[in-house]
Amino acid sequence: MKTILITGGAGFIGSHVVRRFVNKYPDCKIVNLDKLTYAGNLNNLRDIEKKPNYEFVRADIVDGALMKELFVKYKFDSVIHLAAESHVDRSISNPMEFINTNILGTVNLLNAARLTWENMADKRFYHISTDEVYGSLGETGYFYEDTAYDPRSPYSASKASSDHLVRAYFHTYKLPVVISNCSNNYGSFQFPEKLIPLSIHNIKNNKPIPIYGKGENIRDWLFVEDHASAIDLIYHTAKTGETYNIGGHNEWTNISLIYLLCEIMDRKLHRHAGESASLITFVKDRAGHDLRYAIDSTKIQRELGWRPSLQFGEGLEKTVDWYLANEAWMNDVTSGDYQKYYDKQYVKR
Ligand code: NAD
Ligand code: TYD
Repeated sequence: MKTILITGGAGFIGSHVVRRFVNKYPDCKIVNLDKLTYAGNLNNLRDIEKKPNYEFVRADIVDGALMKELFVKYKFDSVIHLAAESHVDRSISNPMEFINTNILGTVNLLNAARLTWENMADKRFYHISTDEVYGSLGETGYFYEDTAYDPRSPYSASKASSDHLVRAYFHTYKLPVVISNCSNNYGSFQFPEKLIPLSIHNIKNNKPIPIYGKGENIRDWLFVEDHASAIDLIYHTAKTGETYNIGGHNEWTNISLIYLLCEIMDRKLHRHAGESASLITFVKDRAGHDLRYAIDSTKIQRELGWRPSLQFGEGLEKTVDWYLANEAWMNDVTSGDYQKYYDKQYVKR
C-alpha cells in the first residue's frame, strides 16, 4: 500500500484534495498532516475521517526534527504539499508567520524527503503554489510557466521562495519534484477571509461588503474541485521536474464579481433586487494591491488533457448554496475573535 502525505489537508483546498484521494484511491493510505491554525478545521473532513485509508496527524511543518521522525515512521512514498499561510492581508500585517511556515516549513519537508528517501525513482514531491509568484499583470497578457517571478506581497514572496527551493532540490539533490501554480480558488470550506466567502457571510448577516480601492482589480477564478482534479492528474501523470499553470480563463473585476454574487444572494434569500448590493462599501485599498492575475493553462490542457468542469455562474451558485446550507460550519469558524479581527480591518474610503 502506497502512503501519500498531504500537508495542509484540513484547510480549504487541502480538504478537497484529501477527500478526493481518500475516496478515489482506497488502495493508498492518505496521511493528512496539519497544524490546525485558524484556517485548518477538521469539520472540513467529517465525511471521510473514519475511512480505513485515512489518518490525521496534528503537526507543525516548522518543526524540522519532527518532520524527519514522521518520514521515518510512516515511510511516505510521496508528498502533496499544501500547508501554508495563505492570506495576503495577513502577510502584510504579520509577515514572519509566512516566512516560517511557507519557506522554513517547505525546506523542512524537502530535507526530510531527501534524507529518508532511498530510491528516488518511485517517489514524488508535489509542491502546490500560486500564480501570485509571477507578480501583477497590466490590462493585457497572461502568466505562462516560464514567466519570470516577480512576487510583490510577503505572501507571494514566501511562496516564490519555496518554489525556488523546491526547484533547487530537484537540480542539486535530484529530488523528484513537480510544481503547479494555480489562480484564485473558490468553493465550499473556504475560510471567510477571502473575497467570496467573506462577502457571502457579510451579505447573509447584512454587514458591509468591503471592496478594496475601486474594485477594479482582476482575479482569475477557478472552482476548487477543478483545482483538485488538476492536482490529481498532475500527481499521477506529470513528468518529474515539470511545472504546470492551472486556471479557469475566468477573469472578473472584484466589483463585477460582487454584483453577480449579490444578484444570486438576493434570489436565494428572497430579497428585493439590489438589496444585497446596497451593502457594498468601498474601503481603503490593500497595500501594494496587485492589479491583475490571469493564467494561461494551455500546457496542462494540451499535455495532460485537463479541463475545468464548471462555468463560473454555475460554480458560484453551487458555492452560495453550500454556504447557506452549512450555517453551523460558518458559525463555528466565525466564533471567537473572528468578527473583532475583521471589523478592525476596514477603513471606509
Ligand atoms: P488555507 O489557509 O485554507 O489552508 C492552509 C492549511 O495549512 C490549514 O489547514 C492550516 O492549518 C495548515 N497550516 C498552516 N500552517 C501550517 C504549519 N506550519 N504546519 C502544518 N500545517 C499548517 O489555504 P488554501 O487556500 O487551502 O491553500 C492551500 C495551498 O494552495 C497553499 O499552499 C496556497 O499557497 C495554495 N494556493 C491557494 C490558492 C487559493 O486561491 N486559495 C490558489 C493557489 C494556490
Ligand atoms: P483574496 O480573496 O484575498 O485573494 P488574493 O488577494 O489572494 O487574490 O482577494 C481577492 C481580491 O478581492 C483581491 O483583489 C482583494 C480583493 N478583496 C476585497 O476587495 N475585499 C475583501 O474583503 C477581500 C478579502 C479581498
